[in-house]
This record gives sequence, structure tokens and C-alpha cells, in this order.
Amino acid sequence: MSDENHGIRHRHLLGLETWSADEILTVHATARRFREVLDRPIRQVPSLRGVTVVNLFFEPSTRTRISFELAEKRLSADTVNFASSGSSVSKGETLKDTAQNIEAMKIDMVVIRHRSPGAPQFLTRCVDATVINAGDGAHEHPTQALLDTLTITEYHPDLKGLKVSILGDIMFSRVARSNIFALAALGAEITLCGPPTLIPPGIDQLVPGGLRVTHRLDEALEGCDVAMALRIQLERQGRQLFPSTREYHTKFGITREHLDRHPDLLVMHPGPVNRGVELASDVVDHERAIILNQVTNGVAVRMAVLYLLSGRSAQT
Ligand code: CP
Repeated sequence: MSDENHGIRHRHLLGLETWSADEILTVHATARRFREVLDRPIRQVPSLRGVTVVNLFFEPSTRTRISFELAEKRLSADTVNFASSGSSVSKGETLKDTAQNIEAMKIDMVVIRHRSPGAPQFLTRCVDATVINAGDGAHEHPTQALLDTLTITEYHPDLKGLKVSILGDIMFSRVARSNIFALAALGAEITLCGPPTLIPPGIDQLVPGGLRVTHRLDEALEGCDVAMALRIQLERQGRQLFPSTREYHTKFGITREHLDRHPDLLVMHPGPVNRGVELASDVVDHERAIILNQVTNGVAVRMAVLYLLSGRSAQT
């Protein structure tokens, strides 16, 4: 690969904590150009011809896995998909051995989703390939935040001063952490809202300048431009952290009444949505819920990240 870096200082995408506004905006600008490719009759460019990408998914995924696979195909990369079920992981093979054996087959880039925070970082010490984090435990999900912030720019081109409320399970959400870093870098005003048991102490100091925290949905939605609802991650919660999903919906779920009261409010969700819990079902299907735009932008953002980190210099 060449040394072309397009202004991105990072060799890997492990998280957004250390990514600057300029780097995030470079991903957005590149993704917008790839969005145009996706609208062409032939949705493929030769940008990553000869590059081999392995998708290592140790955790379930629909959107992220499919959009990485599609992004790689649209860029003409050679791709291999690995799922831990049915692999030698079930015979006890470690992540390090799995990755080194795959790399011995000559690969250039690895996309990894893993339940353990730090697994992508660990991988960078085991292999020479470029590593992209597709979600590691409750740590980060950087491509999700890149696609979320890109989607917001379609409605609000400049995020500086934009009021974004992140709602719900902040404690276990890698999406929340990555979005906090990306939104703060781009100058948005962030409010976190959820039950006290799902907001970790000290999170308000995660970024310079701090974040606003409230446990009242009405406060979080007052003057808010974008509400980002998070999935309640019952599988990560070792114990019941709120009385019931019904009560959670009553206190923190967005309903049609909220949309009627806030006529300019946009609603986002990274998926998968628990209908009737984080969002009322008719909110999911509402025109101001931009959830499927997020999914469409996911392919373009992943194309941009793969392309920018590949070191290739001819985009189309
Ligand atoms: N948003 C997200 O990561 O969805 P998947 O778990 O389906 O990939």
C-alpha cells in the first residue's frame, strides 16, 4: 500500500476518542462522494481492487456486517467473512491465533466486532493488517458514530451548537461513547438522558467542556434538534437496572405526543430497535425518524473508512 493518508493521522480505526473534527469531516466528505456511486446504475468502483479484507464477527450483527460486506464489494475488494460460530473458536482457538492464522493467508485489512472492549486494539499488536473496529463491547462503535453524524449533516449541515440528546442505556452503549466523541469534536451541545442506573458516574466529564445530564425526558427534548435513542442492551446488563420495559417506555420512550410537541425534532436510533420500548412503534415509522437514512449512509461511510485507511489514492 502507498503512504497516501488523505489527512487521516491514524493507521487503524479503533475509536473516535482521538479523531479530530478535520478527520471526521474528511470521512464525511469521502462518504458523500461514495453515496453518489451508490446511486449509479452500476454501484461499483475499482478503488480497492487487489485489497483483501476479512470481516471477523464474534458477536451478532445485521446492519454493520452487511454494510461492511457491501462496502467492500462496492469498492471491488476481495472479502472473506468469518463468524465465530462454526469456526475453530468453538474448539478453543484464541483471538490472537485466529487472527494470525488468517493473516498468514495474506490479508490487508481486518474488520472486527467482539464482545470484549479493547479486542481491536489487541489485534493491532498481533497482526500487520489495518484494523477497523465494528463494535467492541461497551467501548466504541466508531463507524456507527461516523454514519450518525453524517446523517445529521443532511438536515443540519453544521453541527456546531446543534442540540443533540442521547437517550437511554448510556452505561452499556458503545454507540453513545463514539457519538459523544464525534459530536463533541464537531461542536454539538450534548445532553445525556436516562435512568440514573444507566448513566455511569463521571460520564459528564468524558469530553472537554463536559456534557449535560438529566433524568427527565421532557428536559432532554426541550429545544433539542436531534434525539438519538439507544437500544436497551438487556444482554449486557447483568442485573435488572430498571423495573420493567413498560415503565422504561413510560419514562424514557419517545412517542407521537413528543413529536407533536416538538415539530422540528429528528429521531435517530442505531438499531436494532425494541419497538414500544425506546420508541413507540408509530415513531419508528414516522417521517422524522431518520433510521433508514442512517442505514443507507452506513454503506457509504464504511466505503470511506476502508478507502481512506487503505492508503489507496484513486477513489473512482
Ligand atoms: N447498529 C448496529 O451496530 O447494528 P448491528 O448490531 O445490527 O450491526
